[in-house]
Amino acid sequence: MVKITETVLRDGHQSLIATRMGTEDMLPILGKLDKVGFFSLEMWGGATFDVSLRYLKEDPWHRLREIRKLIKNTKLQMLLRGQNLVGYRHYPDDIVVKFVQKAKDNGIDVFRIFDALNDIRNLEIAIKAAKKAGAIVEGAISYTISPVHTIEKYLKFGFELKDSGADIICIKDMSGIISPVPAYDLINVLKKEVKLPVHLHTHCSSGMAPIACLTACEAGVDYLDTAISPFGWGTSQPPTESIVGALRGTPFDTGLDLNLLIEIAEYFQKVKDKYRQFLDPIAERIDSRILVHQTPGGMISNLISQLKEQNALDKYDEVLKETARVRKELGYPPLVTPTSQIVGTQAVFNVILGERYKMISKEVMDYIKGLYGRAPAEIDEEVRKKAIGDEQPITTRPATLLSPEWEKSLQETKKQLDSQTPSEEDVLSYALFPLITKEFWESKKTAKVLLR
Ligand code: CO
Repeated sequence: MVKITETVLRDGHQSLIATRMGTEDMLPILGKLDKVGFFSLEMWGGATFDVSLRYLKEDPWHRLREIRKLIKNTKLQMLLRGQNLVGYRHYPDDIVVKFVQKAKDNGIDVFRIFDALNDIRNLEIAIKAAKKAGAIVEGAISYTISPVHTIEKYLKFGFELKDSGADIICIKDMSGIISPVPAYDLINVLKKEVKLPVHLHTHCSSGMAPIACLTACEAGVDYLDTAISPFGWGTSQPPTESIVGALRGTPFDTGLDLNLLIEIAEYFQKVKDKYRQFLDPIAERIDSRILVHQTPGGMISNLISQLKEQNALDKYDEVLKETARVRKELGYPPLVTPTSQIVGTQAVFNVILGERYKMISKEVMDYIKGLYGRAPAEIDEEVRKKAIGDEQPITTRPATLLSPEWEKSLQETKKQLDSQTPSEEDVLSYALFPLITKEFWESKKTAKVLLR
């Protein structure tokens, strides 16, 4: 029997409608979602925290508590970017520990924790904090394809995750590039050697995901991520109903009730219609270019919007090729937040300016200095020289260079909210995203005045 994690409340809408689904559209269906018998509902983390505050003017902590109130039988799961938490930079350890503890206190049962570079040093603090809080930890392997990403390398990382305290190993195929046979081989080896349950997370971007899910089952996968059909397929996960239907009557039968799933799908179809303005047609298509360039769907839409801004959409193919070249020179980082932006933006610079590395982004320099962690392979010597000259890259865990920020954030929050006793959740929102949290608080004040 294979268990299912339903992703509609996080990755499903993050992939298809730019993470815009509001809490009000989630609450009415939670009763039914809770009845299905999913292993977990992925509903927090990733981009949802940032987007809630920035665009929806919603408190992400409030969403978590509201959902927790109505979900009594199913585990709640979040995606955590290791030392980056739900943001885009490394946070100091005190913030990481506090954030994980508070996420657990407010209702998270399962933390899926990953690092863009598969550098275990960027995961250890978060994994330890989640275990200490009593949560289940999925240690995630950011999956990519490159000459240096061999099965042996993934296996070694699988052991590192286990030794750090992970309960489950997740293969996080954010680009939807895992093909069926390598999926089988990797899961087979992880199950036999690391001896932990394995969870497959993939995207349909290249169209191979449902087949990879089947071979994953044959290799003994324990959990699969799927998204209810209106928020499945395209750059999102395989549709829940399709996977449930496909596995029916096999040894991998999920045992889930298709009729109940269809009722849930009908509900989410209406929700999707409401958010149609955010639906990028590219996100709903199979993009076969991924099979050649291995560029994640989210990154492709970012590249397109950057090129549109520069009035240079005709350079799209060139930028895609340049992306692959920059990635190689930077030591084959997996392309996931934040490395996807780092590589993509540099590729756009290189093409638009007509000279490679004429301008080098601060992020690329920091990356080469080792501030994001260890690159999977050697960084090209010439590029390194151009970027940082004779400066020596750091060899320590990047976050050891950061000073604690809790006390400072607490004082700032007190000032901002004009309160001596702000909630720890508010302090964390401020520590993670000071500007947008301040704007969020101001918008709430304005709303109160208007209501008076
Ligand atoms: Co994903």
